[in-house]
Amino acid sequence: GARLSSNDSNQRVVSGMRPTGRLHLGHLHGVLNNWVRLQHEYECFFFVADYHALTTNYEHSENIDQFTFDTVVDWLAAGVNPGAATIFVQSKVPEHAELHLMLSMITPNSWLERVPSYKDQQQKLKDRDLATYGFLGYPLLQAADILIYRAGRVPVGADQVAHVELTREVARRFNHIYGREPGFEEQAEAAVKKMGKKAAKLYVSFRREYLERGDAEALERARALLSEQQNLSIGDTERLFGYLEGGGRIILPEPQSLLSEQAKMPGLDGEKMSKSYNNIIALREEPGVVEAKIRTMQTDPARVRLTDPGEPGNCPVFALHQVYSNQEVLDWSAAGCRAGSIGCIDCKQPLIDSINVEQDLIRNRAQQFEEDADLVHAVIQEGSEKARIIARETMEDVKEAVGISYRQ
Ligand code: TRP
Ligand code: SF4
Repeated sequence: GARLSSNDSNQRVVSGMRPTGRLHLGHLHGVLNNWVRLQHEYECFFFVADYHALTTNYEHSENIDQFTFDTVVDWLAAGVNPGAATIFVQSKVPEHAELHLMLSMITPNSWLERVPSYKDQQQKLKDRDLATYGFLGYPLLQAADILIYRAGRVPVGADQVAHVELTREVARRFNHIYGREPGFEEQAEAAVKKMGKKAAKLYVSFRREYLERGDAEALERARALLSEQQNLSIGDTERLFGYLEGGGRIILPEPQSLLSEQAKMPGLDGEKMSKSYNNIIALREEPGVVEAKIRTMQTDPARVRLTDPGEPGNCPVFALHQVYSNQEVLDWSAAGCRAGSIGCIDCKQPLIDSINVEQDLIRNRAQQFEEDADLVHAVIQEGSEKARIIARETMEDVKEAVGISYRQ
């Protein structure tokens, strides 16, 4: 397969999700709709992070396989398309674990101890045993998940940005330690000459402008110039990307997080929708259950009688309207609420209808995949094999750079 130069990696996206059972509307609006969009714009790798589930829950591992299946069914039902994106399971690509091990050798303990989720989760999940090596190292496992595909973009929520930042630092350290092969400067200089006179001259001057004056535009232009070069080998291109910034060869490119603009999906109580808050609507909820859940939602407590005026800003129903309803319905609901001219049951009805319309297609698709489990297994099998081809290539480069690719 073709290897990625640092520049092409900007076109590659990787993201993972832990197997926690069936998904809910928070996953749909916060993550899955975004993935469905990204799969047409980027080369996407989406995986079920089953090893990650063990890092916080090793004592209850018995459901992980079932949850993995449920998760993939929900992805497929939501429109993640195995023809467009590579869908797989982390533990079926053992190179994630192998790279994690290699990266653990060069990662200072202090980097992991200061990742915010390390202490936050220990505070929050008091009932779990998080005093383990695996839990401390899980952000590094995430770094390996990303770097094994040399992905440039990582769609994550705000709580995960620190992990992508750690990934960048680890990649930089790895390249710094292992990207300086003997004779690097000479090889880089020789590669410059292979570019052709005009391009070589431009590269040298952009490089100087960047290194001497920190000119970011010169850096951008030099990168663009490099990615246009046809007659450089991948190795030389990687060398020149690294040389450009005054470093060594870039073996593992630094990724960036791709923050989705999506606001937090409100749950039935107005708080963020989350299983642990008991405020969810499942992705495959039965229509009758959707109706019952919405009908029993709390509304603005000021509205005791129908004619009591209310304030939509104090009502979790209105927060859901803002996700599901068009401007006309929003205006009708807000005006009727403030004037005390519509009842809360009336206000809730268009919401019930919209959620059920959205879910009809998803429910149908999910049912088809449930009934054809072999198809789901095949999607995972094929995706894992595809992912593995790329993961193996990265591992080969990594081992060679480190110096443990002994061959007889
Ligand atoms: N840690 C992420 C979470 O808990 C899941 C995850 C694992 C992930 N590996 C990843 C996300 C790699 C993005 C990229 O939600
Ligand atoms: Fe909430 Fe609608 Fe009732 Fe106002 S009328 S309190 S927005 S449910």
